[in-house]
Amino acid sequence: MIAIGCDHGGLLLKNKAIKWLESWGYQVKDFGTFTDESVDYPDYAQQVADEVATGDCSLGVLICGTGFGMSISANKVDGVRAASVRDIYSARMLREHNDGNVLCLGARVTGDQYAKEIISTFLRSEFGGGRHQQRVEKIRAIEKERQ
Ligand code: RB5
Repeated sequence: MIAIGCDHGGLLLKNKAIKWLESWGYQVKDFGTFTDESVDYPDYAQQVADEVATGDCSLGVLICGTGFGMSISANKVDGVRAASVRDIYSARMLREHNDGNVLCLGARVTGDQYAKEIISTFLRSEFGGGRHQQRVEKIRAIEKERQ
């Protein structure tokens, strides 16, 4: 199950992304926003991040204007490793090296077809483990230290 959310800046791309995800066979849990009324991105980032952190959804996709507000907010939730991604190589590395679990996109900076490739690459890539495992564990240790 993939959790997805957006603010008003990401609404059109989110609606397209849901169709792509479903056409690829994924089940999608949509946390809104559902209209083009101006909203605050942390409200949606938190819902998607919580869903991924609890394991109810394996991965999340968050879309705002730049992807920045969503990634900054989502990373406040323990266990979430989110990044704003604008290229296909980074989409793969976010999974393979960082065990990233929330992909953030900027609908105002990334075209629809390119966003589609980024989402597809992120979902098809897998965490590499090995030397990357201890680095991800150190991220977790930083979270724990500050609890
Ligand atoms: C909303 O205007 C915009 O600030 C938001 O979508 C996002 O780009 C923030 O990071």
